[in-house]
Amino acid sequence: MNRLRLSGIAAIAIATTVLFAACGGKQSPGWEFARNMYDPIAYNPDQPNKNFIDGKTAQLPPANTVPVGFDKPEEAYPNTLEGYQAAGSNLSNPLPVNTQTLEEGKSLYLNMCSQCHGLTGKGDGAIVKMQKFPAPPAYGTGTSSRGGAMKDLTDGKIYHTITYGVNLMGAHRNQITPTERWKIVMYVHELQKLQ
Ligand code: HEC
Repeated sequence: MNRLRLSGIAAIAIATTVLFAACGGKQSPGWEFARNMYDPIAYNPDQPNKNFIDGKTAQLPPANTVPVGFDKPEEAYPNTLEGYQAAGSNLSNPLPVNTQTLEEGKSLYLNMCSQCHGLTGKGDGAIVKMQKFPAPPAYGTGTSSRGGAMKDLTDGKIYHTITYGVNLMGAHRNQITPTERWKIVMYVHELQKLQ
């Protein structure tokens, strides 16, 4: 009986020591469990990676693969002036114009385009104001480098530009799905009305 009580006290003493030892030291992170949640096995996108020839983790999709929700615009409307003109004449926005789509287009535009084109499309985005980038032409008053007024750019021309970019503007076809591109196109038409 006594021996049982003694070992009970000993067990409690050991448990208490372990518990307090775990909390010891102000810098100690305490008792760490699930350490692998801090050091994930998977590579982070910005980490160096020996498995790829260029040493980067973030890779472009292999040629001719199409992510779910994306199309292959290069087949019908290639990244050429002819492709741009053809897209301009043949493509029209398949989405219905309504408040919800316009709001989504606005939010995408603010995230993906406004840093260069400006909050209202006047070509005065944040990086332009910082003098880190030349101003793109204003949607309402500028002139397109491919001819004509920016305010007259059609659905297809804007869609083609988002897809492939033009000169200093990069391509967005890997970041923005076709449906999202059409929502942005709809919102750019609103900005073309601003003087
Ligand atoms: C890195 C800055 C930058 C970003 C981001 C950017 N653009 Fe541009 N964009 C430009 C510049 C610069 C031009 C003018 C290029 C030229 O014609 O030489 C331009 C031109 C355009 C044109 C005119 C194309 C034409 O036919 O003349 C449209 C439309 C356009 N951008 C839409 C967008 C949309 C929509 C987004 C967001 C999805 C976007 N841009 C994101 C810099 C940018």
